[in-house]
Amino acid sequence: MNQQNQSPSRNPIKMNMHAPSLLDRVVEEFKIQFNRTPLVLAQAPGRINLIGEHTDYNEGLVLPGAIDRNTIFALGFSPDAQICEVHALDMGEMIRFDIGDLNKMQTEGWGLYILGVVAALQQADYEVRGFQAVFASSVPLGSGVSSSAALECSLLMACRELFDLDIEPFEIAKLGQWAEHHYPGVLCGLMDQFSSVMGRKDQLVCLDCRDLSYQYIDFPLPDYRFVLLNSNVKHSLSSSEYNVRKRECQEAVQLISQAEGENFPSLREITMTQLEKHQRILSRKQYLRAHHVITENARVMQMMQELVRGNEEMIGSLMFASHYSLRDAYEVSCPELDFLVMQAENHPGVLGSRMMGGGFGGCTINLVQVDRIADFISQTTEAYLESYGIQLTPITVKLADGAGIISFP
Ligand code: GLA
Repeated sequence: MNQQNQSPSRNPIKMNMHAPSLLDRVVEEFKIQFNRTPLVLAQAPGRINLIGEHTDYNEGLVLPGAIDRNTIFALGFSPDAQICEVHALDMGEMIRFDIGDLNKMQTEGWGLYILGVVAALQQADYEVRGFQAVFASSVPLGSGVSSSAALECSLLMACRELFDLDIEPFEIAKLGQWAEHHYPGVLCGLMDQFSSVMGRKDQLVCLDCRDLSYQYIDFPLPDYRFVLLNSNVKHSLSSSEYNVRKRECQEAVQLISQAEGENFPSLREITMTQLEKHQRILSRKQYLRAHHVITENARVMQMMQELVRGNEEMIGSLMFASHYSLRDAYEVSCPELDFLVMQAENHPGVLGSRMMGGGFGGCTINLVQVDRIADFISQTTEAYLESYGIQLTPITVKLADGAGIISFP
């Protein structure tokens, strides 16, 4: 894959905001909280992922895109160079901390991401002083569209601008990932932060997490839209099980490496033939996890070809196949998500559907014919309410540009 060096511009861009009022509200709130106007406005979007789930931390392939939902930060210098004050407009909450004390025990929830970002900058030797900030978001929380990456990357963008830091866009993504690892403690791959920073309007981007090369690809089906169905459930297993899956994959790599007398760095180097050959020395779980990752990488490669060909049927089948593998082999789905995918499978307007993101709740991603979206949503909403007593939240998204500085309205 060829590395493309067209990184997002540092110059302010006029944003085509999904919700212009979000920007106005953030600026307004900054004035209310801090009695002056902010110096910097930045945004970073959430993401979808067409295919390539739980492959990123296995040096595999992913095919995400940034969406037209974002987190906006307004930032200014703090009068006290040691103190940061950050107000979360959506929650009506404020945190205040000393830049020299980033102990994560002093906060929780969204505050962890903020502290994590400041710590990420400091550990990379970037000089940051006290700042005041207000943020708000149109990325739905905890629904598998990476509200946390949007938060991290938006604040990183804003800090880069305010403190005039020389940080490459790719490094923004890595700093966001560092924050996620060290503060909330989720040992995530790079997909979410990468797409939030590097996403492009109307395009998906295939990232090879082994060598970090990437390639943009147009989405070729003008009659279809991405419809996310938020199950509105989040089973508590999600972050602990995430780290367990990562460990199981590493164990499988270790065992197969020993048996082959080689030192495989990741599942990416292991073929299906090798996996089958060594099935006996792996636990059932280790085998299944590896099976998902190896087949999912193959599905991403095939998806790239089918997108180029515009082969609707295969694009859809690959999405369903990914879901079944996540459900049966990786075991990160849940009854609510399986129900939603089954509904999609039975609807004539849906090309493909699967759970998206870490799993155990959150969204399904569905490719739906434009003129059948309303029917699909109303049928599925009714069926889901009847079976689970839960109201579904449908979200129709477009592929959008990644993080950037917003010029003042
Ligand atoms: C979460 C993580 C990503 C990725 C997905 C699963 O979104 O943050 O790095 O591993 O789960 O594909």
